[in-house]
Amino acid sequence: MALVNENHLKLPGNYLFAEIAKRVNAYKSEHPEAKIIRLGIGDVTRPLPQASIEAMHKAVDEMGHVETFQGYPEYEGYDFLIEKIIEVDYKKRGIKVERDEVFVSDGAKSDTANIQELFGVNNKIAVTDPVYPVYVDSNVMAGRTGALGSDGKWSNVVYLSCTAENNFIPELPKEKVDLIYLCFPNNPTGMTLTKEQLKAWVDYARKNKAIILFDSAYEAFIHEKDVPHSIYEVEGAREVAIEFRSFSKTAGFTGTRCAYTVIPKEVTAYTASGEACSLNRMWYRRQATKFNGVSYIVQRGAEAVYSEEGQQQVKELIGYYMENARIIREGLQSIGIQVFGGVNSPYIWLKTPKGMDSWAFFDKLLKEINVVGTPGVGFGPSGEGYFRLTAFGSRENTEEAVERFRTKLKI
Ligand code: MLT
Repeated sequence: MALVNENHLKLPGNYLFAEIAKRVNAYKSEHPEAKIIRLGIGDVTRPLPQASIEAMHKAVDEMGHVETFQGYPEYEGYDFLIEKIIEVDYKKRGIKVERDEVFVSDGAKSDTANIQELFGVNNKIAVTDPVYPVYVDSNVMAGRTGALGSDGKWSNVVYLSCTAENNFIPELPKEKVDLIYLCFPNNPTGMTLTKEQLKAWVDYARKNKAIILFDSAYEAFIHEKDVPHSIYEVEGAREVAIEFRSFSKTAGFTGTRCAYTVIPKEVTAYTASGEACSLNRMWYRRQATKFNGVSYIVQRGAEAVYSEEGQQQVKELIGYYMENARIIREGLQSIGIQVFGGVNSPYIWLKTPKGMDSWAFFDKLLKEINVVGTPGVGFGPSGEGYFRLTAFGSRENTEEAVERFRTKLKI
């Protein structure tokens, strides 16, 4: 008799964005005439940078000739892409990253979900609350989280509440934790940490032999000068931090799929008997076994992001979305809604009017003005009473959505 992994049965309902899609589709089938504007999942709408398109066309042609044909890609990614990543994303910022510390992958979602496989089941995890649901759900599947309480919290997870009251800055845990998930600029709140604030986490991790899993997928949206782009800007972070980056939001690769993870060779976790193990080597072994790499064509497309034209085109893409963010932020403020984020991030986190609960506000927006967003509570208990809108829509839809908020929403 085949037995299931019962940890999977502990997961409540659907994955957040699948649940939203389900509700929107149900509404749409009852109201086929509704012109729904989707500002829920953070999916990009602008085409790929022209530099990437051209590079991928060329790569397709190369695949058609015996002299230039490519078979299985390198497990950790092609040199041509890794060298550009190191040069532009790190060296230019004065950060040391070596060739064998970068692992190209098909997404920060899969990497942040899979990384927990390297760690023992008895590790205590800490997450900011609200949080990108993948970090928690992947640990539930692994059996690391305990039981789900009626307060929406897993018994073996430490929740670091981030609300307007603490300006969305997580406090260090009072108890000892082993794995800490941080995402800055934050999904969903759109807020950032200063280097000093990030340093407190690196110091905590060094003191407690903990590991920080730092999701930096929204780094390219940082606009203010004093916001760190990489956790490795903080001294000592190479000993304790793994960083995840993605081309999805930066260069419009949500449908094309390319990302990378940096694991410095110094990052160490331990066996029960205290023997130190290199997570870099363990991840290489894991990836070589379970992952066949990102296609040559896509990696050429990602490489082109780092060309002069590619960098200019990415800047324009980001500028486009950040203008959407401004339109949403200022539009909502003008009708008295309290908003956060949207300055160094494509997400706008708002307080639901009149203390309405997040799902009730979701339903209200869907029904009254046909606008879809993401209920804050879907990201964790501290997200209750908040709501997320993304700036990744088209300009036309973004302006139309704000206009509907202004003129049609009854609050
Ligand atoms: C989001 O909307 O939070 C993101 O699109 C999710 C993701 O990147 O997987």
